[in-house]
Amino acid sequence: MNIVFLGPPGAGKGTQAKILIERYGIPQISTGDMLREHRAKGTELGKKAQEYMDKGQLVPDEIILGMVKERLSQADCEKGFILDGFPRTVAQAEALDKLLLDMGKKLDFALALIVPDDLLVERLTGRRTCKNCGMMYHIKYKPSKVEGKCDVCGGELYQRPDDNEETVRNRLKVYHEQTAPLIEYYRNKGILREIDGSKSIEEITQQIISILEGKA
Ligand code: AP5
Repeated sequence: MNIVFLGPPGAGKGTQAKILIERYGIPQISTGDMLREHRAKGTELGKKAQEYMDKGQLVPDEIILGMVKERLSQADCEKGFILDGFPRTVAQAEALDKLLLDMGKKLDFALALIVPDDLLVERLTGRRTCKNCGMMYHIKYKPSKVEGKCDVCGGELYQRPDDNEETVRNRLKVYHEQTAPLIEYYRNKGILREIDGSKSIEEITQQIISILEGKA
């Protein structure tokens, strides 16, 4: 099952992808997480990406496409994958189509999480992430049992540097200008499914499972 998650920053793409990997045994491929890993390791790629990420701008396609191509060719993607945060422009979506065609694969679902902007600002400024395992929390909607500590591994929780209100608003502007057109792109391909992303995490998961398992 080859899936793309669409949706603005904070829509819940990563939250839902992490739930689905357990159920379906296919990997989440998050370009944002991959870039943050490069930054943490101090690679050249990570240093280049940092200046764009800190301003809430998109990292140039040539950096992203090479990274995704390499990741999709790994053995754990044989049975399927969940793309989260990629593609983000029509040019990236076209490059992905070509890449998958060359690999003899295609996308099965483009799942778009629809959430109003004001809710997104609240979700992102309240998000906390585990430094160790990447598990995500929210100070109001999904608090950890012990403040500042991950429930899963006990790691320290931190706030992403691009989750301050000013950068979040810029990320939303970039989303509406450059990424939202992908909804029409995938509608035209007949694989788009739109989901109300303002509901609870559990309700959204149920709806996604119904779609993926042909019950909705
Ligand atoms: P990236 O890491 O991809 O961030 P994003 O798209 O901005 O998305 P987020 O991770 O912020 O949100 P999400 O939808 O995953 O929400 P989450 O589940 O965490 O990208 C970061 C940067 O990297 C970009 O700005 C860009 O510079 C660069 N980049 C990455 N990919 C790129 C590409 N392809 N091309 C170019 N540049 C690229 O949820 C958010 C919070 O809400 C959490 O706290 C969660 O607990 C909570 N929450 C989730 N669902 C619910 C719910 N239903 N109800 C209540 N709370 C909820």
